[in-house]
Amino acid sequence: MTLDELREKVKNCKNCPLCDTRINAVFGSGNEHAEIMFVGEAPGRNEDETGEPFVGAAGRMLNDFLTASGLSREEVFIGNIVKCRPPQNRDPLPAEEERCIGYLLEQIRIIDPKIIVCLGRIAAKQLIDRDFQVTKQHGEVFRRNGRLIMATFHPAALLRNPAYKPATMDDFCLLYDIAYNRHFEVDIP
Ligand code: URA
Ligand code: SF4
Repeated sequence: MTLDELREKVKNCKNCPLCDTRINAVFGSGNEHAEIMFVGEAPGRNEDETGEPFVGAAGRMLNDFLTASGLSREEVFIGNIVKCRPPQNRDPLPAEEERCIGYLLEQIRIIDPKIIVCLGRIAAKQLIDRDFQVTKQHGEVFRRNGRLIMATFHPAALLRNPAYKPATMDDFCLLYDIAYNRHFEVDIP
């Protein structure tokens, strides 16, 4: 399957009840050959209205960190665990994540990034470890299914807790170095 074929499938998906309340499914956007793939949680109001990921206040925060670390939205790919907005921005239900995760796994297979970055707890729990703790384990690099993966703070968490910003900046710098082979001493379990 190509990314465009998958995009079409997601647009029309009715695999879980979130399809009843969404305006737009949010497939994700960016470079189809990205070395870095960011994975957030689920669309919020702005994303539901526009069909684009991370376009609200959290998106502006993410843009700031991309720019500050020498990255652009055009060169990375940005997606989410769940493609349709949960009502009132509640956490996605386990059943919704289960129904939707296949799309993300297929996106990862097609884009084939060098490293995946989980933005926040929901993505890290789903993709790295059920018991993942972002405050303790952000910036650690893991290998899952032969691919590098790490987590950092969710941009919305940085809006509430600006004290996490320096640590997030460190994570983005490490990420850049790994993705573009500027880092040779990272110890990956
Ligand atoms: N928060 C997310 O997790 N994803 C988005 O796309 C927007 C906000
Ligand atoms: Fe389909 Fe995922 Fe949207 Fe549910 S959240 S309707 S599984 S695209």
